[in-house]
Amino acid sequence: NANTAALGGIIGEAAAPAQEAAPLTILFGSQTGNAKGVAAQLEAQAKARGLTAKLVNMADYKPSNLKKEKFIAVAVSTYGEGEPPEDAENLHEFLVGKKAPKLDGVKIAVLGLGDSSYEFFCQTAIDFEERLQKLGAESVVARADLDVDYEEQAETWIASALDAFEPELKAQQSAGGANVVSAPFGAPQAAHSQYTKQNPFTAEISSAVKITGRDSTKDVRHIEIDLDGSDISYQPGDALGVYFLNDEALVDDVLGALNIAPATEVKLGDDTLTVRDALIEKLELTQSYPGFVEKYAAATGNEELAQLITDKAALREYLEARQIFDVIRQNPSDIDAQTLVECCRKIQARLYSIASSQAEVEEEVHLTVGLVEFEAFGEQHYGGCSGFLAHRVEEGTKVKVFSEHNDNFRLPTDDNTPVIMVGPGTGIAPFRAFLQERDAREAEGENWLFFGNPHFTQDFLYQVEVQGYVKSGLLNRVDLAFSRDQAEKIYVQDRIREKGAEVFAWLEKGAHFYVCGDATRMAKDVHQALLDIVKTHGGKDDEQAEQYLKELRSANRYQKDVY
Ligand code: 2AM
Repeated sequence: NANTAALGGIIGEAAAPAQEAAPLTILFGSQTGNAKGVAAQLEAQAKARGLTAKLVNMADYKPSNLKKEKFIAVAVSTYGEGEPPEDAENLHEFLVGKKAPKLDGVKIAVLGLGDSSYEFFCQTAIDFEERLQKLGAESVVARADLDVDYEEQAETWIASALDAFEPELKAQQSAGGANVVSAPFGAPQAAHSQYTKQNPFTAEISSAVKITGRDSTKDVRHIEIDLDGSDISYQPGDALGVYFLNDEALVDDVLGALNIAPATEVKLGDDTLTVRDALIEKLELTQSYPGFVEKYAAATGNEELAQLITDKAALREYLEARQIFDVIRQNPSDIDAQTLVECCRKIQARLYSIASSQAEVEEEVHLTVGLVEFEAFGEQHYGGCSGFLAHRVEEGTKVKVFSEHNDNFRLPTDDNTPVIMVGPGTGIAPFRAFLQERDAREAEGENWLFFGNPHFTQDFLYQVEVQGYVKSGLLNRVDLAFSRDQAEKIYVQDRIREKGAEVFAWLEKGAHFYVCGDATRMAKDVHQALLDIVKTHGGKDDEQAEQYLKELRSANRYQKDVY
């Protein structure tokens, strides 16, 4: 076919390279794959313009190659308290070290992804640009700091970055005779499904059950979704993006507070729909973000809110205690329906680590969803998507989903490699997928699970399955930390320390170590426990222990899926 013929041509051309010209090197640092997606789009667009471009994960990039670069584009996300994604850590550090080369004359363009509801928005992108500039590089376009609904702005930025790079890149390519390949079909992507974030699949819920006990302090749901008729495929370690509907009662409350008739028509992009439908289906009303307060304050002339945006710390505190619903209901105004919807940002799909393997469940996908809830202003508040999945779905409910690949959380390719899985709370989800997969593949490698939650009787998620796997021999070891079943708290990291000698022995014999769950405390405490074990049982000092874990990470043997 035409594609193959074109490819033959490309290969033929590449066989006789002239003197090499510097390509546009596109470096990405991604945790969940969004920055990688933008980087791949940039690569495809560059190639479509006939420019040589090279797409590289920062984790696989040799920093010493920097001195050979002339054109660099960076797409990087930011996590937690302004931290780089793990894949970006080494390069991020290298740029401020002694070995960082001078980059005079190097042209750069930096794009950041982040979430403006957090402090240190896009900090990692800011760092990269500053550090590269300090070494002498020059930005060809303004850095883009993009929020969760980044798609359109990313496209615009890509176009202007390429406009800026193109003349020089083209000039040196024709001078250097680089083998330029035009790819009218776009870069071949590992396409897994026609369904994406922008074009999700409408699936049906096949089952939704609460799996924590009646007296539990937590509400965790096991959700099964039928993917039949889609071509969606996923691997253990991947996530599922889920779109949800806002609570109708809350939407009606908001409309009542603003005296807006629910049937009023509004425009959202090219769509015309009622304001009620827009608020239920399309707009973010739960997760608080500063952009809303800014726009709402301006639209309503509310001085208190306007004052609040000038004080970052106060604004943060205000937003932490409220959902967008509260902000509106506590600040009624006479704005019209169209203005209201323009204050809100588009609803974002929530990503859940997939709890099943297709080797076991075929055309289904399973999730382990912890209900986010808190009390405020005398009312129970729920997370947007978890509230939807816990309270407003039943068998047959339609839900829009897409799969999101995560190459940073993968079972070892070798089935004989042992794995240690640390997944307290809903962090157990991907390990259920791992175990299903290893079971189906009859993998010989040993499996060790650390699980924790408040109470054995209430919170032992997937207890029957876990015990079944112990019985069948799939799970060689299970260590449980029920934190509140005794006077003193016991956490997974305490169990890891107790079994330190064996954990270290497993690492020494090549085990992969996985952590899933809470990022702010648990993952850090587990990391510390690992360091301690390596010191105690490996006879290493602080620096050597750090190095040991660093090497585990570079070998992809220490992987995290934390949130
Ligand atoms: P707690 O709520 O009783 O303190 C899943 O949420 C489990 O993780 C719970 O048992 C919870 O215990 C526990 N947990 C809380 N903080 C933790 C930490 N820093 N490290 C590990 N587990 C923690």
